[in-house]
Amino acid sequence: MNVLILGGGGREHALAWAISQSPDCERLVAAPGNAGIAEVASCIDLAIEDGDAVTAYAKAENIDLVIVGPEAPLVAGVADDLRTAGVAVFGPGKEAAKLEDSKAFTKEICDAAKAPTAGYAHFTEAAPAKEYLASQSLPIVIKADGLAAGKGVIIAETLADAEAAIDDMLGGAFGAAGAEVVIEEFMTGEEASFFILCDGDAVLPLATAQDHKRAFDGDKGPNTGGMGAYSPAPVMTAEVEARAMSEIVKPCLAEMARRGAPYQGVLYAGLMIENGAPRLVEYNVRFGDPECQVLMMRLGSDILPVLKACADRTLADVSLSWRPEPAMTVVLAAEGYPGGYAKGEVISGLAEASADPDVEVFHAGTKLEGDAVLSNGGRVMNITARGDTIAAAREKAYAAIEKINWPGGFHRKDIGWRAL
Ligand code: AMP
Ligand code: GLY
Repeated sequence: MNVLILGGGGREHALAWAISQSPDCERLVAAPGNAGIAEVASCIDLAIEDGDAVTAYAKAENIDLVIVGPEAPLVAGVADDLRTAGVAVFGPGKEAAKLEDSKAFTKEICDAAKAPTAGYAHFTEAAPAKEYLASQSLPIVIKADGLAAGKGVIIAETLADAEAAIDDMLGGAFGAAGAEVVIEEFMTGEEASFFILCDGDAVLPLATAQDHKRAFDGDKGPNTGGMGAYSPAPVMTAEVEARAMSEIVKPCLAEMARRGAPYQGVLYAGLMIENGAPRLVEYNVRFGDPECQVLMMRLGSDILPVLKACADRTLADVSLSWRPEPAMTVVLAAEGYPGGYAKGEVISGLAEASADPDVEVFHAGTKLEGDAVLSNGGRVMNITARGDTIAAAREKAYAAIEKINWPGGFHRKDIGWRAL
């Protein structure tokens, strides 16, 4: 198979690393890729949110499967364009991608599917939103409806903060994404991520993970895309997983199909678990980053035929096995992230860091200059390890980080604290 991966972060490096090991993979191309992906794939320039451009490339290069990593091309309808042109694609179409693109839409699907989630209301005007607030208890969650790069969620402890968040969002602080706000009940419990494949009909639960969204140790500091993750999530017992499937995931996927927007790709369910009962926090329409990195480290069989089956609507005919060992990934980020940071700094010691067969260094924001690997983003690398226990995986990941030389980087020292 000739495979094209869209994206250039740690998630896409992990996917490329796994797929490059498949006997079915003849040629692997990534757009735009990064310095790590370049070790296992050829990296090209392509406007990945432009469906016509991606389709033209796929046709010209006889691509057998396009795997879409990030949400933006999915929300832009790139998967629809490929499917219409007869190119197999792993990733949902624009209508199904609304599960990530619109929080109000997801809530409506949950209502129709009777899936447990936080109570909510949504508004486009500040006055009725504030009137509704007055009848709610604190803390309360205020969300911009659309994609806001993880920044559109405010957990307000006071009425004044909640009102300010509403004014900000409706006042244009998040552009079009904030033209509508969702006000949600604050849920307590423990969060976990659950990944499920769906081919529009058949479903295949993959695995669970937990990530750390805050920048600094002790879950302090600003929210980020994720500073580390591990899999499996201990809170996701077989029972909780079964309930999440039967009460949330399957009814929502059935509702999408009923509406003529069958979901094809990986569904990322962000769950809040309290007393063994899962409730939906949010859906994403892609693998998590860095959750994907730990999932790929735990694969016990070839993922490429499974992703292809998802695209071909033959998911019921395939299976996937998992290694029993847990995995952990620690994100190495540029000092200053998620705010401003420097780029172009030399990073060395990478071969030494990944010498252990249970350790992989996935690149996120890097680029090659000659033989040198340079920092080229906020989240720069994901040091990922497998071990007999989460504690053992963590020890290997942190030992590997010690071998990397990059004075301008930082990482959290407490990834996995909840599981340990
Ligand atoms: P989201 O972008 O919807 O994932 O929200 C980001 C984070 O905000 C989640 O991972 C949760 O930690 C938190 N969050 C969102 N909605 C709620 C809620 N209704 N109750 C409690 N925490 C929430
Ligand atoms: N790590 C969270 C995300 O991918 O959305």
